[in-house]
Amino acid sequence: MRRSVRREGEAVMGDVLGYDGRRVVVTGSASGMGQAATEILVSLGAEVYGLDVKATTTSGAKSLEVDLRDRSAIEQAAAAVGADVLGVFNCAGLPGPPFSDLDVMLVNFAGGRHLIESIVPNMAANGAACFVASNAGLGWQQELATLMPLVTTDGFDAAKAWLEANPSMYAGNGYGTSKKVINAWVAWRGASLIREGKRINCINPGPTTTAMMPFFEEANGAALIDAFIGPIARRSTAAEQAWPMVMLNSPHMSYVNGEALHTDGGFLGAMVTGQIDLSAIPMPARE
Ligand SMILES: NC(=O)c1ccc[n+]([C@@H]2O[C@H](COP(=O)([O-])OP(=O)(O)OC[C@H]3O[C@@H](n4cnc5c(N)ncnc54)[C@H](O)[C@@H]3O)[C@@H](O)[C@H]2O)c1
Repeated sequence: MRRSVRREGEAVMGDVLGYDGRRVVVTGSASGMGQAATEILVSLGAEVYGLDVKATTTSGAKSLEVDLRDRSAIEQAAAAVGADVLGVFNCAGLPGPPFSDLDVMLVNFAGGRHLIESIVPNMAANGAACFVASNAGLGWQQELATLMPLVTTDGFDAAKAWLEANPSMYAGNGYGTSKKVINAWVAWRGASLIREGKRINCINPGPTTTAMMPFFEEANGAALIDAFIGPIARRSTAAEQAWPMVMLNSPHMSYVNGEALHTDGGFLGAMVTGQIDLSAIPMPARE
């Protein structure tokens, strides 16, 4: 049943996106973008399962505490959610330091991918998944030769074994590499998933005010983060990232698949048209 989150002065919105009474899964639901997505989906009448290492506190959502580095915990959670899942919103992530590059790759890519793959057999016929990448993953198309051996690993254990055997692929930049891999996997996997009528897309957010931001500022400096803001001249809110995910997973987006949506306030557009010079942005040294 849909719950109203209407504030004074706002228009009433019907269930135009098709979530009322439908089952969805959100990872990273305890905080930031995942929490914002959870709140929106509950308000649209969805049955929301929130998966996070921490408890999901949004009223009306079910909380499953799951560590995305743990294959069997992921599979148990997928089984607990059950059948007829309309949408998976994979928002969980680690920011890089102080977390190890391996943990960052496991949570941001291998665990999130495994959750989606564990739910795919239980997805509704028109189901969809949305993965949160980042504009830290820009340039992934030029690195496909490096990314595809990991992208095409079969399952969580194979991905973990590959990562343990190939640390040079991501050492010193686990965060940016994980986001490139997500973009590449979404583009690759969309081609096979759509044959079942199911879809997968990702968003590439610009700097967003969440609990993760202080970690980025500590590792890279606030000036570098702000250099990635672009023409909109402010950071995003979590809800401004959650809404595009809610749109992408809506059954009304049935011809949108394998897509990377740049939810960056126009940063990429300004960059590719020469209005932002990335080479002028001071990058931190990577060991
Ligand atoms: N904040 C930004 O500027 C920004 C920009 C681009 C992309 N992103 C991406 O957006 C996504 C959401 O991040 P956010 O900004 O909302 O940060 P956040 O820290 O508020 O939320 C991240 C959530 O992931 C959960 N999480 C961490 N490790 C986990 C694990 N092992 N298993 C399960 N859950 C785990 C955390 O508990 C937390 O609730 C992330 O993938 C992040 O990389 C963030």
